[in-house]
Amino acid sequence: MEKREKELCRLALEAREQAYCPYSGFAVGAALLCDDGKMYTGCNIESSSYSPSICAERVAFAKAVSEGERDFVAIAVAGANRGEMPKTECPPCGVCRQVMAEFCDFEKFIVLMVKSKNEYTKCTLKELFPWAFGVENLQKGD
Ligand code: THU
Repeated sequence: MEKREKELCRLALEAREQAYCPYSGFAVGAALLCDDGKMYTGCNIESSSYSPSICAERVAFAKAVSEGERDFVAIAVAGANRGEMPKTECPPCGVCRQVMAEFCDFEKFIVLMVKSKNEYTKCTLKELFPWAFGVENLQKGD
């Protein structure tokens, strides 16, 4: 997996170049690896009214899911001030974690947080998002 992990991190860094972040100045890129080997990238896209803004991770998921993908292996995320290289990890926000929880296996899905050009921190979705709310928590009528 190591070679593909590095490739995913490289793609996440590259995707940052497309970030539309005039309000925060914080450019994020993501690269999502599907079970069939395809990779989908995303960048954050902000709005002047702020709440319609969307994170890089969810853009990557939306692109993949809308192409019919349902099985996911790993995602790489890279974030830093626009024009700078990451100096530390960009952990996915809570909303993005919930979207990952919708589609991904907690034990198997890998999250790679890019730390610098050649370093990343790796964890499972379970480590990133313990005690997630899930479909099993929905109370259906008796
Ligand atoms: N952002 C992401 O794209 N992904 C994350 O996981 C954290 C935050 C974006 C949202 C906003 O455009 C900017 O980074 C600052 O919060």
